[in-house]
Order: sequence, then structure tokens, then C-alpha cells
Amino acid sequence: MTASSAKLIWFTDPQLIPAGRINYDIDPLARLDACLDRIEQEHPDADGCVITGDLTHWGEESAYQLLAERLSSLDYPVYLIPGNHDDRGLLAQYFPDLPVIAGDYVQFSVPVGDAHLIFLDTLDDGKRGGRLCQARLNWLQQQMELTSGPLFLFMHHPPLAVGIPNMDKDALANADEFVACIEPYKERIAHLFFGHLHRHVNGCWNGISFSCLPSLVHQTPMEMENDKPGYVSPEPPVYGVIQLQGKNVLVHSHAFMHDAPRINSRTCQRYQP
Ligand SMILES: [Fe+2]
Ligand SMILES: [Fe+2]
Repeated sequence: MTASSAKLIWFTDPQLIPAGRINYDIDPLARLDACLDRIEQEHPDADGCVITGDLTHWGEESAYQLLAERLSSLDYPVYLIPGNHDDRGLLAQYFPDLPVIAGDYVQFSVPVGDAHLIFLDTLDDGKRGGRLCQARLNWLQQQMELTSGPLFLFMHHPPLAVGIPNMDKDALANADEFVACIEPYKERIAHLFFGHLHRHVNGCWNGISFSCLPSLVHQTPMEMENDKPGYVSPEPPVYGVIQLQGKNVLVHSHAFMHDAPRINSRTCQRYQP
């Protein structure tokens, strides 16, 4: 993207499973299809679509195949990174254009004018929590060193605890090394985007603003004292719209597939178009 502004669609944690199967009483493929229908209708002018990991739930080959089929309908580039539920090899197999670095980690940088979107692979094979090994941190350091201008970072695992103990135990395990890596470049990091939490969380961490969206499927209960709630929340799926302009960023979110009817704002009756 050569222009200094961009509109990106963002959703996270679609956790696809083979067609016809249900998980947590949810059909993840129906959720993905509904999301893609909406973004194609509502945002045909987008410059790209970002999915911040947990692309599949159990990592089956047929789930990646479905994802590739469905995403091929979009008219703009799709930027994918893996989460803890993913299989990096199958991801690369079904998305052969996805850039990888030495070690087959899915990390890449996309210019937007003078700014750069930097996508990081925090998958630590076999673990729920994430990690950025030395090879991935070295690549990140090199990208930050070789570029100038604002940086927007995208990753699956949050590098901080957010006060939801059920999820905080599986954050980025070596967040201290990540912090040390980005410290010299912190002033240029305009925003940090991550998934994994299956909840809305926005804030500022070490001077860096961040956003996390709910997933396309089951959500994490709002339980700040209970580290094993034993249920998933039925809150609706969400997609986001990221608007970038130089170092400025706006993040909108849109919940869809919920049962609440539209109410006419003047009559307070059911809205009839
Ligand atoms: Fe997830
Ligand atoms: Fe995750």
C-alpha cells in the first residue's frame, strides 16, 4: 500500500472446524460466512483484511482448506498470522503466498505509506501460551531498525495480563524479552493489535495503545476472579474496521449475529425500513 492511509477489516479467532461440525453450540463456518458477507457488503473499499490467529480450532487440514476457499472471495489482500490453535505447516500449505522467515515462522511487514504493519508469529507449538523465540525477535528488531515512520504491530497473544485470570495464564510467555526488543523503537509504535482473549480489551501498556476484539465464535466470560469459569460467554461475534492515517489510528468494532431487533429511534417501536 503506497498511500499513507488505509482501511483494514480486522477479525480474530475464527477457530474453523470441518464443515458441518459444531463447537460450543456454534457453527464456526456459518460465523465466518456471515462475517465475510457483511464485510463484502459494508466495506467493499477496504484495502486489506487482517486475521490475528486461531484461524482453526483443532488444526485439521480440511479447516485450512475451507478457510482458504472462503477467503479467496475477498477482493483485497488477507494478512494471516497463527495462534495457539493453529498448525503452522498447514497454514503455509494452504496459503502459499504468506511470507515466512527462516524457521518457517509467519512474520512479515507491509508498508502503508511511511508506516509499516508488522505481523508477528507468537505460536509456541503444543502450548496455549505464546512465545517469540530469538529468531523471531531478531527479525522484529531488524524490521524496526531498517524502517522509519510509524509501526503498527499485529500478534495473536497479548504481551500483558489484562485481569482475566482464565486467559492471563496463557499470554506471551516471554513478554519481558519482547519489551526489551521494542524498547528502543517504542516511540514509533503507534498501536498494538492482538487476539486470543475472545473479549474486547483496549488500553495503553508501557506507553503503547492496544486493542483486542472478541472472536468470531465463543467468547471468554467477564470473570475477573475466577480462573476456571467452566462456561463460554454467548456474546456476539465482532469484526473491526481499522483506519490508518500516518501515525493516527481509529479502531471501530461491529457486533453482528445477535438477536436484538432494531428499534426506531423516534417511535421506540420495532424499526421497519
Ligand atoms: Fe482463540
Ligand atoms: Fe489463542
